[in-house]
Amino acid sequence: MASLVFEHPQENSTAHMTTSPLDPEEFRRQGHMVIDFIADYYKTIEKYPVLTQVQPGYLKKRLPESAPYDPEPIETILQDVQDHIIPGLTHWQSPNHFAYFPATISTAGFLGEMLSTGFNVVGFNWIASPAATELETIVMDWLGDMLKLPKSFLFSGNGGGVLQGTTCEAIVCTMAAARDQMLSQIGRENIGKLVVYGSDQTHSTLQKASQIVGIHPKNFRAIETITSTSFALSPEVAKEHGMWVHVDAAYAGSACICPEFQYFIDGVEGADSFSLNAHKWFFTTLDCCCLWVKNPSASVSSLSTNPEFLRNKATDSKQVVDYKDWQIALSRRFRAIKLWLVLRSYGVGTFLGSHVKMAKIFEGLVGMDKRFEIVAPRHFSLVCFRVSPSAISKANPSLSDHDNVNEVNSKLLEAINGSGLVYMGHAVVGGMYVLSCAIGASLTEEKHRAMAWNVVQEHADAILATMD
Ligand SMILES: Cc1ncc(COP(=O)(O)O)c(C=O)c1O
Repeated sequence: MASLVFEHPQENSTAHMTTSPLDPEEFRRQGHMVIDFIADYYKTIEKYPVLTQVQPGYLKKRLPESAPYDPEPIETILQDVQDHIIPGLTHWQSPNHFAYFPATISTAGFLGEMLSTGFNVVGFNWIASPAATELETIVMDWLGDMLKLPKSFLFSGNGGGVLQGTTCEAIVCTMAAARDQMLSQIGRENIGKLVVYGSDQTHSTLQKASQIVGIHPKNFRAIETITSTSFALSPEVAKEHGMWVHVDAAYAGSACICPEFQYFIDGVEGADSFSLNAHKWFFTTLDCCCLWVKNPSASVSSLSTNPEFLRNKATDSKQVVDYKDWQIALSRRFRAIKLWLVLRSYGVGTFLGSHVKMAKIFEGLVGMDKRFEIVAPRHFSLVCFRVSPSAISKANPSLSDHDNVNEVNSKLLEAINGSGLVYMGHAVVGGMYVLSCAIGASLTEEKHRAMAWNVVQEHADAILATMD
């Protein structure tokens, strides 16, 4: 059996530590230690500054120049994690992390990840692990049902779902299918005529995906949207022109399993594909992007290759799904098992509802403080706000022009995040620099929400006071 120990001439060799790379009893012992380590991390997470305070290159100064020659015990390694890695983490699982989007995890998601990693099957086609493929088709139909997606997106209709790593990969795959579907009608030589449209609020991943699939950069078009229509686009025009419509619901899609939010995906029947990230707001560890398509054969014809070494009777029978043909890579992880654990373990809607409730309270407090304004409508648990031009003008009329208002808000965010107490994000909406507070970490409770607003107010007090 393989050993991790190299032949080494030094006298004080640590041969006593040799063990198989997968000795079950050693796995059990070290595994328990790591679980204890992580549980303690969650228990004490609030003692760390949410946004890391290290400087670039900090780790090189702390770690040896080269990898160790002799094996080291897990105790030493975990001590180094504590001393050197944790200081360089931005604590996404902190209840005081409000930046970007929630990267929720849960016991079920974590344990599912352990099972996935523990089995470490490479389920590229059905025969490589039928359970991995079949569980994925089942959980994708379950989740699709919970979202009330039309049957045409589900295996139980003529569509189907697949778990990708990220939305970016999901959109690349979808766009490759859309591209090839159109090119089969107009000829491959006409790729330069293909155009991708998105709203001006669309995530940059759409632009990246268009570059990857060979769309000419000048043919990527962002359509202007406005606040009064909640930055929405309607798929109607696209459908009239035979275009492929994709709905990227990376962050908020999971909320649409709650009856009160389901209407946000009204009209999804007009789309060709739909995706959401379970690793954002659905208590499943990164990575886990759920993608449903109405026409799987379009994806398969774009993404499949059939080398001899992968041929098998099940594939030849065409009775099975071979997920390698739905994604970029050949190899794939057993992500379905973690989503399965999450779906079975929680009434997920309950948690999401509490996040939205906290966001509503936060929004209400922003609205009541005359120095602030809400700058974009809040629908889920993301509140976008800023110190208003009038408050800045009151503090110092000479600093109330557009650029200064943006600068004051950027300084406010820097001060808030520099405190280490909370971590919030920002965006630029219609030229306005806005602060964003995304409530949804798995550990966040009302007391954290309350503290976050206090931190914002205190720093706003300080900044406005120095302006007069
Ligand atoms: C709407 C939207 N699309 C795409 C992405 C990118 O997701 P991923 O990192 O999974 O590619 C995000 C997350 O930041 C997002 O919120």
